[in-house]
Amino acid sequence: METISVSKLITLFFLSLFLGFKFTHSTEITYDNKGIIINGQRKLLISGSIHYPRSTPEMWGDLIRKAKVGGLDVIDTYVFWNGHEPSPGKYHFEGRYDLVRFIKTVQRVGLYVNLRIGPYVCAEWNFGGFPVWLKYVPGISFRTDNEPFKRAMQGFTEKIVGMMKSEKLFASQGGPIILSQIENEYGSEVKEFGPAGKAYIDWAAKMADGLKTGVPWLMCKEDDAPEPMINTCNGFYCDYFTPNKPNKPKMWTEAWSGWFSEFGGPNHERPVEDLALAVARFIQTGGSYVNYYMYHGGTNFERTAGGPFITTSYDYDAPIDEYGLIRQPKYGHLKDLHRAIKLCERALLSSDAKVTSLGTYQKAYVFSGRGTCAAFLYNYHFTKSARVTFNNEHFELPAWSISILPDCKHSVFNTAKVGVQTSHMQMLPTNSRLLSWEMYDEDISSLEERPTMTAVGLLEQINVTRDSSDYLWYMTNVHVSASDLQGAPSLMVESAGHAVHVFVNGKFSGSGFGTREDRRFTFKGPVNLHAGMNRIALLSLAVGLPNVGPHYETWKTGILGPVILHGLSSGKRDLTWQKWSYQVGLKGENMKLTSPNEASSTEWMRVSLAAQKTQPLTWYKANFDAPDGVEPLALDMESMGKGEIWINGLSIGRYWTSYAKGNCQPCNYGGTYRQTKCQSGCGRPTQRWYHVPRGWLKPRQNQMVIFEELGGDASKISLMKRSVSRVCADAFEHHPMVEHWRLDSNGEQEIIHQSNIRLHCGPGQSIASIQFASFGTPLGTCGSFVKGSCHSENSQDVLEKLCVGQERCSVAISNSNFKGDPCRNVLKRLTVEAICS
Ligand code: GAL
Repeated sequence: METISVSKLITLFFLSLFLGFKFTHSTEITYDNKGIIINGQRKLLISGSIHYPRSTPEMWGDLIRKAKVGGLDVIDTYVFWNGHEPSPGKYHFEGRYDLVRFIKTVQRVGLYVNLRIGPYVCAEWNFGGFPVWLKYVPGISFRTDNEPFKRAMQGFTEKIVGMMKSEKLFASQGGPIILSQIENEYGSEVKEFGPAGKAYIDWAAKMADGLKTGVPWLMCKEDDAPEPMINTCNGFYCDYFTPNKPNKPKMWTEAWSGWFSEFGGPNHERPVEDLALAVARFIQTGGSYVNYYMYHGGTNFERTAGGPFITTSYDYDAPIDEYGLIRQPKYGHLKDLHRAIKLCERALLSSDAKVTSLGTYQKAYVFSGRGTCAAFLYNYHFTKSARVTFNNEHFELPAWSISILPDCKHSVFNTAKVGVQTSHMQMLPTNSRLLSWEMYDEDISSLEERPTMTAVGLLEQINVTRDSSDYLWYMTNVHVSASDLQGAPSLMVESAGHAVHVFVNGKFSGSGFGTREDRRFTFKGPVNLHAGMNRIALLSLAVGLPNVGPHYETWKTGILGPVILHGLSSGKRDLTWQKWSYQVGLKGENMKLTSPNEASSTEWMRVSLAAQKTQPLTWYKANFDAPDGVEPLALDMESMGKGEIWINGLSIGRYWTSYAKGNCQPCNYGGTYRQTKCQSGCGRPTQRWYHVPRGWLKPRQNQMVIFEELGGDASKISLMKRSVSRVCADAFEHHPMVEHWRLDSNGEQEIIHQSNIRLHCGPGQSIASIQFASFGTPLGTCGSFVKGSCHSENSQDVLEKLCVGQERCSVAISNSNFKGDPCRNVLKRLTVEAICS
């Protein structure tokens, strides 16, 4: 056995002391008008939002590493108060809520953190991040000059700051946190709240500053942010923004990479050409910090979705998709953009732009100073490309695009010329089957036996449930005589939101739903009454509490009435003010049917699904083994109605097969982006697949429990895996490739001219075949490429040799690689479509 000598031990001891010292050495974070300054060096920082509870700790490392490879310097996250303090003074920092572990993971990967404490966060998160109990603190009024609120907000903020300090996570202590945020987008509220709003935001600034974190505080979308808060911009574009003091840097805390979805609405896509343009435009107008909201959107697990009606998926069309897979070309094109911007960093941070006109719709932004020169050439025409002359060179600028010239001579990147591959994703069946189905009937006939309370009149829902469940039963009896029934009785229920399922004498009579824009709705429907006593049971639902709007904490939920029976021969009968009994939650919830231990009790009925008809208010249970492979997993829920899903006792969220209404036009990247542009998925379920994190599965015998409200065909539910079906790439010879640019030892740019395309399938996959390849002048788009008048006969051969069987490959776009020039004096491109398996 090898022994360690004493001198070696002493050296090791001093080395560890030295390393330890280095590790805890503080990093100084300051700023000036040009940017954040880290240890005396101005920085141009690229950041991305990844919200820790929207993925699993098993995914964090991979997501953050992908962010680093994508060219990010900073990870931004909100802190989710209601996740951390579910009841007053009872804290939760485990699992997906292990904030310290998340930040330490970022630190380990080598990135910085912007900790947006809020604690109001908006974020399409239940109740905007506030715990529901906060609403019931006597005398409270949210986000204004109100003592109980301020006390609670300060308490939580101190708790988080204290925790970060004790773990030495602020940069001032040697940790990765270089920035933090207090409040969130208060600018729009302050207008409503008047002087109390102003007093509150002054207090918030002082309170935060008093916590002495040693790093700057931000306030986003708050033009009047008091000193020393840095006010920042959020939006689809932020080039127009200037901070409220000349000593503050121009920062963009939310560059919206896409948009969120609500059940019944379309999905939103934001073309990367436009997002890249927005970022380049921000940088050319002096911006030095950009954060993508979201870089990975993830999943609203459990009942964390805000709303109402925010979908369980929070994919956001982000560069990393909900499942943690790279979204191409968005991810790769932004990575190229970040590289191009970083090549200009010195020039950008040491000078202001000189802006000159290059044409009616074209401008040059030139940064020169300290021996460097960088230029951004901007064509802001929505549809027309332009040929411009700059520094005696000609440049072709596509419509709505910016070219980046890190040396004022060569364009290394254009926001509208996408050189990276496009990946098409698919959901494929797995080898895993859902077995041993069992059912449990929610059985509303026993409802009367277990009312939580009775009251005269209708109660506000959250007052009763405190959001411990989405569900609240409102039940009452109504006596009708035989003569009353000669008409056609119907029931009218006015609800403050968000949805209701109506049961009369145990039979389902219909549902009513609000929308995110207007939570209130009226249910009207015929009802089957009989002579004598009739039982009316209304299952009212909260589908995510509101997360935005002035004093949304005062907004009401549930059936507030009137509730009226129409069509009786004796006229209408107002039931609003009679005796109602209430039941919080479902019987199955109260019995803990969702938890793996309880669920094995004998209450369940073994069934063959084929023999079952769909029925409302039904619990389903099945077992499955973890599928082989490494691909992310999802449940296909298209055959089901609405409800919630649990895997091994953990909720993966609400599901709802609600069909998307929207305006799904072909999407053109040119022109100003809005949520109404580039919608997709109209006529299909807004969300069909529900992410099942691999980290939640055991190799064998995993338990799935589903509660279905409306009725669905559970036999068609299946476990799918997400993978890349095919990849396409398309690029010109001599097209600028930013990765071929380096600074040599003299600070001069070195250029390598050969361009190439790169293909890469998903994790665990390889390139199975080449569907199409053409070096020449091919036409069409991915999925429908065709040969043009010029085509190298060697195309297919070259691609097959270099790529088939490989996980990734790189192919030079040059005559020599294709064994000769297929057409002289013609600018050629290489277009490829490859199949992954
Ligand atoms: C912002 C807000 C974010 C998020 C976003 C929309 O205004 O600050 O938290 O809600 O809108 O996704």
